[in-house]
Amino acid sequence: MGKNTIGPTALVIFGVTGDLTVRKLFPALYEIFRLNPFPLQVIGFARRDWDEDFLRKVFYQSIEDHARTKPLDQMALESMGENLHYVRSSFSDIDGYHKLKELIASLKVKNCLFYLATPPDAYPTIIEHVGQLELAHPTEGWTRIVIEKPYGRDLASALELDRKVHQVFEESQVFRIDHYLGKETVQNILVFRFANGIFEPLWNRRYVDHVQITVAEEMGVENRAGYYEQAGVIRDMFQNHILQLLTLTAMEAPVAFNADAVRDEKLKVLRSLRPLHGQQALASTYRAQYGPGKLDGVRVPGYKDEPGVSPDSTTETYLAARLFVDNWRWANVPFYIRSGKRLPRQITEVAIQFKQVPLSLFGWRNLAGDAPNMLVLNIQPDEGITLTFGAKAPGPESIIKPVKMDFDYMEAFGVEPPEAYERLLLDCLIGDATLFNRSDEVAEAWEFTTGILQAWADEPLQNLPEYEAGTWGSAGMEEFLQRDGCRWRRL
Ligand code: BG6
Repeated sequence: MGKNTIGPTALVIFGVTGDLTVRKLFPALYEIFRLNPFPLQVIGFARRDWDEDFLRKVFYQSIEDHARTKPLDQMALESMGENLHYVRSSFSDIDGYHKLKELIASLKVKNCLFYLATPPDAYPTIIEHVGQLELAHPTEGWTRIVIEKPYGRDLASALELDRKVHQVFEESQVFRIDHYLGKETVQNILVFRFANGIFEPLWNRRYVDHVQITVAEEMGVENRAGYYEQAGVIRDMFQNHILQLLTLTAMEAPVAFNADAVRDEKLKVLRSLRPLHGQQALASTYRAQYGPGKLDGVRVPGYKDEPGVSPDSTTETYLAARLFVDNWRWANVPFYIRSGKRLPRQITEVAIQFKQVPLSLFGWRNLAGDAPNMLVLNIQPDEGITLTFGAKAPGPESIIKPVKMDFDYMEAFGVEPPEAYERLLLDCLIGDATLFNRSDEVAEAWEFTTGILQAWADEPLQNLPEYEAGTWGSAGMEEFLQRDGCRWRRL
């Protein structure tokens, strides 16, 4: 379906008063609308004592502060502003849903996109009420539901949520968001691999020594301790974003680029992950927590001193893991992942370290002694791809030094990549679920992650290692890889 064929649509944002709407949803919606105006009504649904006028103010301010493109398109803004509505209600009050139903009917829309931007404990109630008022299956047009993460907190709760969702919605109506899949450079992993003939033959255990996936953040826990204390890196980043990066890196070519074909292949990777349980899980993971330190010259508190964090918290803010994808392509190739908060810089990348040549003929000078060929997919912030290879350094001796071939997204295309939510919201509106998680994928990712969680719970750490905020961490992080004869990339 073409972009400009979206018919009259109501977007209902449950939890519209939250941060996500202001920072991500409104700005993304504005960019979509600006490029392809369509008959759109936005309905905010939340408990706070707001009204339509206040929501309009919040909307204008959000675009002012967060729009990706400037100058602002006043016509688009006004037209969107005129079509904003607000239903004030608690999520458990059925009257609110009656009002919502009447409002939707009065707006004469055909399609309805429900967006759950609330705390996850409200999801079941909202879904149940939407079902009760028969809002999920319209007589004309389509109805879809977008569900934000966290989608459950372990396998059992994810399956339970899924059961509730499926009582009301068909799987084809459900769009489970992982915003990493909306990032252009994440999608480019597939284009790079499957639109080019030269890399794929090397993309396997014969040529790849190991893979390193890094998702490093400068940010600390901010004001999200209530959520983060119960989550840690494993639920916040690993079960979703990191496993997604891994599946895209490791998957086979899909038979077509459509939602089911792509998701079938991702699912196979998740199913091939060597399960981690008990001692194996403990030996294959490393956890730590940030202590006080300095970032950009500014003192920052340790995790335990952040507002809302328990002084004896054992929540990990850093996680490293060694994973194996047990299939023919990847047997025995380690996938090392690491992710943490309060690291020296924000960077997300997938690095493929190719094997050393079979026989070394030249003096290879590289401080780490790593094999020369590494391909780095830079997801953010410097979006691009870098291939490192050895070249002869000038001079009479045959000394080989690493040099780089670089593709820089900005330089090549002259534009910044769009925000993930722009792509994802548009895909919900046109009904393309390729970049969303299917029910079976989520369950599989949780099944794998729950093995680790269980092992951690069975044998609680006596003390969680601490790393100084603003550094690449404790000695334990290095040792974790040194044991395998590897080292983390210096970033
Ligand atoms: C979110 C996590 O899903 O992703 C946050 O809840 C994290 O803790 C964020 O900071 C990172 O996303 P991005 O797009 O900034 O890399």
